[in-house]
Amino acid sequence: MILITGATSGIGRQLVEDYTKSGADVVACGRNLEKLAGVKDDCKAHQGKVLTLAFDVTDRAQTTRVLSDFLREQEITVAILNAGVCEYIDDPLHFDAALVERVFAANFFGVVYCLQALLARMPVSSKIAIVDSMARQFPFVRAEAYGASKAAIHYFARSLQADIGQNGVQVITISPGFVKTPLTDKNDFEMPMRVSVEHASLAIRRGIAKGKSHIAFPRLFGGILSLLERLPRGIQNYLATRMKQS
Ligand SMILES: NC(=O)c1ccc[n+]([C@@H]2O[C@H](COP(=O)([O-])OP(=O)(O)OC[C@H]3O[C@@H](n4cnc5c(N)ncnc54)[C@H](OP(=O)(O)O)[C@@H]3O)[C@@H](O)[C@H]2O)c1
Repeated sequence: MILITGATSGIGRQLVEDYTKSGADVVACGRNLEKLAGVKDDCKAHQGKVLTLAFDVTDRAQTTRVLSDFLREQEITVAILNAGVCEYIDDPLHFDAALVERVFAANFFGVVYCLQALLARMPVSSKIAIVDSMARQFPFVRAEAYGASKAAIHYFARSLQADIGQNGVQVITISPGFVKTPLTDKNDFEMPMRVSVEHASLAIRRGIAKGKSHIAFPRLFGGILSLLERLPRGIQNYLATRMKQS
């Protein structure tokens, strides 16, 4: 069975649809019961079945309890930890630390709580894929909190990959570029090479099926960011500031 967090919207919701269409059974996780019921209803004609689990990933006790209880009854072979939020900092000189805490609560600690419940309870041959973001690769303006939370969870996942090695669950990192979802629909700036949720879902499902340890899409945007990352710091800062002005 495949477990997906953040399954009520955007990339996660599309993954539930596509996996169940292909015959896989999915545990769709979210914090809103109505939205979860909607996801289940939308997939009722599909070959695979949808179970739902409600918990808020920022609540450590709830997340670990709900997931541990579930794993006592059912086996998960793939978990995609995708739930996340994005908030931008509008005034860098007077930013609100509470905003940074909210973003880290979901994007960093939310994943860590899921990992605590899942890692030791999933079969050795299973996979856990952790969604970060290409935003972690470049100092995008206003993205201090979001980019830092994604860089932090990416590092955590990579360190886990090395630490677990061949002795347990395979940890996979996923770095999407811009994807058209309710999360990015709120953005008021240009989003180069933004792809559809169908594109994102296909890239993620293919990468997981092929046993990749890192999945990044769209490739061209990832390649450009990797080049930008290698530029001298002063040039990176100049380019990031130019993006703010444009
Ligand atoms: N879209 C992009 O361009 C993009 C790019 C790079 C990375 N990502 C990452 O991809 C992931 C999915 O993003 P998306 O664009 O599909 O966003 P989305 O449409 O806003 O969906 C986010 C999902 O996460 C859930 N979620 C948020 N906070 C939660 C919490 N505290 N507890 C449980 N569930 C929670 C949401 O549930 P509710 O419905 O209850 O809010 C929703 O199901 C995120 O981690 C995001 O950072 C997205």
